[in-house]
Amino acid sequence: MAFTIAIDGPAAAGKGTISKAVAGHFGFAHLDTGLLYRAVGAKTLDGTDAIAAAQALTARDLEAENLRTPEVAQAASRVAVIGEVRAALVDFQRAFARRAGGAVLDGRDIGTVICPNAEAKLFVTASAEVRAERRYRELVGKGVSTSFETVLADVKERDARDRDRAEAPMVAAKDAVVIDTSALGIEEAVSTAIAAIETARSR
Ligand code: DC
Repeated sequence: MAFTIAIDGPAAAGKGTISKAVAGHFGFAHLDTGLLYRAVGAKTLDGTDAIAAAQALTARDLEAENLRTPEVAQAASRVAVIGEVRAALVDFQRAFARRAGGAVLDGRDIGTVICPNAEAKLFVTASAEVRAERRYRELVGKGVSTSFETVLADVKERDARDRDRAEAPMVAAKDAVVIDTSALGIEEAVSTAIAAIETARSR
């Protein structure tokens, strides 16, 4: 039986961690839709046209090594404002969402545009400062040399672009359960998410 869980929210709010844990808990497949935009963004850094890159995207492109860098994240956010780029990625995401056995998709517009009829919707958020602190620690942990201020400015710039764009802006769906992870540890955030989905499942 198809059951779709939509998890949206800004960068570094804990979406990825929660999505993986939720998918594991329910035995569902997981798609990090940010990777699609990152793969397109990475190609534009090599000089490829964004729309052509989105239309030609293959599963192999999602395995590129550099998709987690801040440069690629910004490039992803820039290509994500282009309607034709978003349109080229819709069918793949919807097919994934309706696969038998259940699916978790995380991104910015899953509960609003890609899967407005998802059986469960979460919007995972946290203050920009908390998110920047998490991302800063993660980058330093990977040996990247940067400053908290740089990461905070980066987070705020991407938030503004993702939130203020005309096509599929980042916004909580009216029927999404909002989880603010600013003051939550990973385990608490995951158990809050699972409890909200269990409630949706029992309806
Ligand atoms: O989730 P992420 O940080 O990997 O996403 C990278 C960028 O991709 C994000 O800044 C905006 C874009 N994105 C989007 O527009 N829609 C999605 N469903 C997922 C990501």
